[in-house]
Amino acid sequence: MQLIDGRHVAAEIRREIYREVENIKARGKKVPHLVAVIVGHDGASETYVAHKDKACREVGFESTIIRLEDTITEAELLEEVDRLNRDGSVDGFIVQLPLPGHISESKVIEAIDPAKDVDGFHPVNIGRMVQGLPCFVPATPAGILELISRYKIPTEGRSCVVVGRSQIVGTPLSILMSRKAYPGNATVTLCHSRTPHIEKYTREADIVVLALGKPGFLTEDMVKEGAVVIDVGTTRVPSKETRSGFRLKGDADFDRVAPKCSYITPVPGGVGPMTIVSLLRNTLQAAKNR
Ligand code: GUN
Repeated sequence: MQLIDGRHVAAEIRREIYREVENIKARGKKVPHLVAVIVGHDGASETYVAHKDKACREVGFESTIIRLEDTITEAELLEEVDRLNRDGSVDGFIVQLPLPGHISESKVIEAIDPAKDVDGFHPVNIGRMVQGLPCFVPATPAGILELISRYKIPTEGRSCVVVGRSQIVGTPLSILMSRKAYPGNATVTLCHSRTPHIEKYTREADIVVLALGKPGFLTEDMVKEGAVVIDVGTTRVPSKETRSGFRLKGDADFDRVAPKCSYITPVPGGVGPMTIVSLLRNTLQAAKNR
């Protein structure tokens, strides 16, 4: 069994990006600039945005956080998006989700200029991804592909079961794993909350991707010997062993599942660290495209 070390790979990619930024500076060009918009005071969103800001600074990007109160109207937020679309100093921006209930997330996402949509959530970017055209791929699926590729895990002709059909992870990953490329060329099954007997599918799978957010969902009887398990789950569960009183738990029952695997991503330290570097990569690409 080999652990897929997302922290190590993410650090390597941050160094690669840092070197590219040094190069950009040496040529007297403007460094990439990412803006994150956060609406309201959701604790998890605050943490994510703070991590994104820190990661930007570490690789030499310019980073701006725009904080808006959750009393903002949809029209006002759309105006802010429009301002960022037109702001020449901004290479890419994200609007952190979830948004307050009175604001339509899809309207906001559709208002973002696809060329600055470094989250890869705009229908134009999703459509281009489906057609295999150059686009911004959402950060978590992009991070998973990068891990598979850096560990040289074979995917062609393999069966890949994705559990979870979210717009951010499961759905795009299912498309990416089935396209004619590496990583890809897999036979993909997308399981979700209405799939009866998910174990029937996971037991036959060469590659299992878990993105459902149910800690310990995948047990050892649900995977075959030698399977590759990619665990996107990060649920905070109470813990006596940490100062915060919480720890992150993945969707796999790690201690029991890992011995059966050829490769497995730990939680934390697997997919998580890759997500932010994928966002940095998309931002670097956005800056280069301009
Ligand atoms: N909320 C949870 N994950 C994400 C993400 O990748 N991007 C944005 N904008 N919001 C999120």
